[in-house]
Amino acid sequence: MPHIEIISASIRVGRQSHRVALFFKKFLEAKGLATASILDLKEYSFPLFDERLSKQANPIASATEFSGRVNKAAAVIIVTPEYNGGYPASLKNVIDLLYSEWRRKPVAIAAASDGQFGGTQVVTSLQFSLWKIGALTVPARFHASNVGESYDEAGEPADKALVEKLATGFVNEILRYVKA
Ligand SMILES: Cc1cc2nc3c(=O)[nH]c(=O)nc-3n(C[C@H](O)[C@H](O)[C@H](O)COP(=O)(O)O)c2cc1C
Repeated sequence: MPHIEIISASIRVGRQSHRVALFFKKFLEAKGLATASILDLKEYSFPLFDERLSKQANPIASATEFSGRVNKAAAVIIVTPEYNGGYPASLKNVIDLLYSEWRRKPVAIAAASDGQFGGTQVVTSLQFSLWKIGALTVPARFHASNVGESYDEAGEPADKALVEKLATGFVNEILRYVKA
């Protein structure tokens, strides 16, 4: 079974998009689609890196561990909030930290916002950065709108049938890339 890493990108106090990361971990495992774990950028609490990991003289252990987990994953789902139409600095910090780890890695975007559009505007800039670094950006997207009301704190969706239907199409597309 493939292993999927889920990056939870928001480090904000009172963040809500983390609920979507919790949902995907449970969903992937419950449906037997993949094993999954969460790379929680809030938990890592990384400093703002001043160089790529491969060029750092004394990398911190948690950054090396993060790199190893991205490297080993069959695919990565990035759960990102939309901030001012873009993706958060916490996420740019770890995209730029790595290089070869991203190359040819299937990476899919799950965007979240507290409005009705579910972070549709964040996709353009994030997909461009991922393409630029050589990741295989999966064209399927997942959007979580009104995220605070649509998912509870444990990641349980209010409309489970609808969310699972959308998640199934999204994950199947990721798995096609993993196979390819
Ligand atoms: C700095 C900042 C900028 C934001 N910009 C947007 C935005 O451009 N579009 C949007 O739909 N929501 C925006 N939001 C609201 C987020 O969608 C909301 O906080 C949501 O819960 C996802 O982020 P979170 O995981 O940090 O909670 C913004 C929030 C912050 C803190």
